[in-house]
Amino acid sequence: MNIFYSLTAIFFKLFNPQLLVSRGARIDPRAFIARGGPVSIGEGSIVRAGTMLLPSGGNIDIGSKSSLNQYVVINGMGGVSIGNNVMIAAFCSIFAASHSIDRTDIPMQQQGMVSKGGVVIEDDVWLGTHSVVLDGVHIGCGSVVAAGAVVNCDVAPFSVIGGVPAKVIGMRRKNA
Ligand SMILES: CC(C)(COP(=O)(O)OP(=O)(O)OC[C@H]1O[C@@H](n2cnc3c(N)ncnc32)[C@H](O)[C@@H]1OP(=O)(O)O)[C@@H](O)C(=O)NCCC(=O)NCCS
Repeated sequence: MNIFYSLTAIFFKLFNPQLLVSRGARIDPRAFIARGGPVSIGEGSIVRAGTMLLPSGGNIDIGSKSSLNQYVVINGMGGVSIGNNVMIAAFCSIFAASHSIDRTDIPMQQQGMVSKGGVVIEDDVWLGTHSVVLDGVHIGCGSVVAAGAVVNCDVAPFSVIGGVPAKVIGMRRKNA
């Protein structure tokens, strides 16, 4: 099994020479990692089938023991940092940039991309299925993002947030 995942990592490195895969990380061969920026996947982390890591000129850093379930899409243009023990459920999206919409005299398509500084997801965060994390957001450690949430502002540690746009719907107890 380890040889299988080692070969898979080598296969993905053919597409993106800036890919760093740590010991014990597992990338499903049905995932996709594009070229165009550094991508690192920490020790023991898992990238499941259908997930797309698209650096788009930025970096995507994933810590150790984190899991990206099926069909997660990450655009790393402004930089995406994901901590340790982070759980990202199926169909989540993280976008670290957006289209510029300032001008009305030319199509938005021609206005280029802008970033507010990328996305940081600290350790031990759980992103529920179909949640969307937008550019410029910092999610504090131990937080839970409810299914279907659109996160467009910073999240304090140990918060439970949900809705569109996401608001605090609870706090996790700080105990032993
Ligand atoms: C966030 C979550 C963990 C909360 O679960 P819970 O503690 O059992 O919460 P409850 O169902 O008791 O709901 C608590 C409150 O949050 C609200 N809430 C729960 N889920 C919500 C959601 N997805 N969006 C918005 N509000 C939500 C409830 O309406 C309730 O509000 P109220 O107190 O005003 O009635 C859960 O709703 C969730 O989204 N889980 C993600 C599941 C998932 O993605 N699984 C994939 C496996 S990796």
